Amino acid sequence: MNDYKIAPSILSADFSRLGEDVKKTVDAGADFVHFDVMDNHYVPNLTIGPLVCSALRSFGIKNIIDVHLMIKPVDRIIPDFAEAGANYITFHPEASDHIDRTIKLIRENNCMPGIVLNPATPLSYLEHCIDDIDMILLMSVNPGFPGQKFIEGTLKKISQARSLIDKSKRKIRLEVDGGINLENIGKIAEAGADTFVAGSSIFNSNNYSETIKSMRDKLKEIK
Ligand code: DX5
Ligand code: ZN
Repeated sequence: MNDYKIAPSILSADFSRLGEDVKKTVDAGADFVHFDVMDNHYVPNLTIGPLVCSALRSFGIKNIIDVHLMIKPVDRIIPDFAEAGANYITFHPEASDHIDRTIKLIRENNCMPGIVLNPATPLSYLEHCIDDIDMILLMSVNPGFPGQKFIEGTLKKISQARSLIDKSKRKIRLEVDGGINLENIGKIAEAGADTFVAGSSIFNSNNYSETIKSMRDKLKEIK
């Protein structure tokens, strides 16, 4: 049985009542909270930091928080996110001068490290660190904004990443982020993904439970 996880990206949540809106996704059956951090430097948008992560914990959110750092530099803020209640911390290797050091820093702070690859960033970045990470996050849009169209070329990359994970024999989540909806979640899973970030397709839907349930129904069809 595949262990699929659905991770609503809070980028499309109602920020004026973030705690309640995130809780609505949890009550609707979401697994992870995907927490998008942008710095208007590595990506051309600006979002939220550790204070907001900590506020979600104080509000009572107990799910895995999957922090996606789209920031440069990376290292300074990692202990703060760990302290704020993050579980996974993923970063873009182009944004760190010392990839191995950043991975170790995340681990030393008792979080699970992951590498994020942009649509045109090669899988070869994983060659010397796959044994040290717990998540590979493949971007299926260019990072920075919600509501973009899924880049089809990601499908091939997902199956290549799946082979690398199988070869490593380690338990590594293969997460895909950007443009995921009810129409394409099935083929993304078929390609080998097990963790699905979905921002606009969940938060812009009228009924989060129905949307998440329909996503799970599509995933049940995958062998
Ligand atoms: C994009 C972010 C994504 C984004 C996904 O830079 O990393 O998590 O919010 O949003 P949708 O699902 O709307 O493409
Ligand atoms: Zn993201």
